[in-house]
Amino acid sequence: MYRTHHCGALRIAHVGQEVTLSGWTDAIRDFGAMNFLDLRDRYGITQVVFAGADNADLYQQSRELGREFVIRVTGIVRERSNKNPNRATGEVEIVANALEILNRSKTPPFTIKDDTDGGDELRMKYRYLDLRRTIIQKNLFFRSKLAIEIRNYLSQQDFIEVETPNLIKSTPEGARDFVVPSRMNPGQFYALPQSPQTFKQLLMVSGFDKYFQIVKCFRDEDLRSDRQPEFTQIDCEMSFVTQEDILNTFEGLTKHLFKKALKIDLPTFPRMTYDEALQKYGSDKPDIRFEMTFSELNDLAKGKGFPVFDAAELVVGICVPKQAANYSNKHLNELTEWVKRPQIGAKGLIWVKYENDGSFKSSASKFYKNSDFETWAHRFGASKGDLMLILSGETDKVRKQLGELRLEMGFRLGLRQPFDFKPLWVVDFPLLEWDEDAQRFFAMHHPFTSPKKADIPKMLSGDNAQMKALRADAYDLVLNGVEIGGGSIRIHDRALQSKNFKLLGFTPEQAEAQFGFLLGAFEYGAPPHGGIAFGFDRLCSVMSGVHTIRDFIAFPKNNQGRDIMIDAPSYIDDSQLTELSLEVKAVKTI
Ligand code: AMO
Repeated sequence: MYRTHHCGALRIAHVGQEVTLSGWTDAIRDFGAMNFLDLRDRYGITQVVFAGADNADLYQQSRELGREFVIRVTGIVRERSNKNPNRATGEVEIVANALEILNRSKTPPFTIKDDTDGGDELRMKYRYLDLRRTIIQKNLFFRSKLAIEIRNYLSQQDFIEVETPNLIKSTPEGARDFVVPSRMNPGQFYALPQSPQTFKQLLMVSGFDKYFQIVKCFRDEDLRSDRQPEFTQIDCEMSFVTQEDILNTFEGLTKHLFKKALKIDLPTFPRMTYDEALQKYGSDKPDIRFEMTFSELNDLAKGKGFPVFDAAELVVGICVPKQAANYSNKHLNELTEWVKRPQIGAKGLIWVKYENDGSFKSSASKFYKNSDFETWAHRFGASKGDLMLILSGETDKVRKQLGELRLEMGFRLGLRQPFDFKPLWVVDFPLLEWDEDAQRFFAMHHPFTSPKKADIPKMLSGDNAQMKALRADAYDLVLNGVEIGGGSIRIHDRALQSKNFKLLGFTPEQAEAQFGFLLGAFEYGAPPHGGIAFGFDRLCSVMSGVHTIRDFIAFPKNNQGRDIMIDAPSYIDDSQLTELSLEVKAVKTI
């Protein structure tokens, strides 16, 4: 028998019992005649004592142990004299009477501790050791618990989990596909799914009514802390539903998960239109944990002889409460440099301090009088002691820049607390997005998204000017400034879908070649349907108060899309390439 208990199990009630434990050697403290060892497994840590006075041979044997050895220990449980209140097993220890080394370990390249000394790359190379750390194990247990709760909730609501294929067809919309050559069909490729979108819609045509899947998706896009090339979606679709039904169902799921996993009761989620989100927060994923919403000043600030504002399409600012006194000229210069960094891209920053004595100080005081600043302060809802920060320029750009500044100020003021959860729905996304470089429309969500019913005549009108104003039944779930999920009501009518493909620049032949299967299915009784997909990795990380999804994925890729543990991607043999009818083009460096 390897063990009678695991390393997190023993309590004061076990005192006097003989027990056997197996696990990894954690900290070892040799005091000469007494060796104290922390034995660790998934469940916890138990202190083991090898006392030279009681058993000299065993004590000597225990001195052979190094970090991360796998051992089996038998001994008697005894009450500790110096208890450790931070550990569940901290009241007891085992006085060992037998020790067996089950496997030795090389000295690990970094410490297996929450605050490890290992850098990112090293930990990724030895991910199996990184995964021994309690902090990462906790994340994966959390993820597993959440997955179980998702299945519980959705199956109770009559959703059926269906697996969809991973070898599918490449389509040019969306992100880049990862492709897989087909040996049996020379020159042809499968693509790995960016999402099961078309399949879940086909399942609705088949009559499954409510589908979900916790599913891997693959996107060949640039990586960031909240993006991985393979990630997991909670993918869902429902028939005979309106947007309202979907929002209610998945607000219900989100609340259920918060309740079960974090014991938090979330209130009803507020809803905000896409236009309002951009106008007030400069982002379609607003962080509503704090206010500092935008105030527009065009009517008050233009036409007074300040050339920068006069030339701008939009003059817009935020009011930072109670910060006038804290921001010296030096700090304001530093903030100005911050907005001028290429990542933000503003040309400059105008500030106005509403001093405690009611006067104003500003970087634009040459052009404006106190009475002007008073009207601005009124617009901002500013009080004495507040600091107003103003940007100007092209509407879309300046909103984005101010959005970044708002987040930065929120962060500096400690207003973005990770465990203060503020979800919301962003609704009424535009259907199409105009790409100036490509001179064409792209689908804002994806090409299967339905315009709002009222906008269908506009869509059919063929008038390009009207297309930009088309609204879709599309929505995002946003949590603390992170897009957790997105979805839409779908087009279920062949003619309308064909029209949408046309707007997106597909010829009828291209539409048929790429999506003929879906268009065909719409001719056999497709019900009205819609759905949503949550980014599961993102949900896990934000619920845990962090923004990096890597620590919630057992074996993630680095920012170059590499798995440095298994060293992938890698070159393949010429013979494999030949078998796949691929030319040997890669220059091999090894
Ligand atoms: P969308 O493309 O918005 O919608 O994706 C849904 C959610 O998936 C997450 N996500 C990612 N997470 C980690 N790494 C990535 N590279 C990544 N890309 C996306 C986000 C996002 O909100 N088929 C549609 C859904 C639908 O219409 O039902 C879709 O895939 O959290």
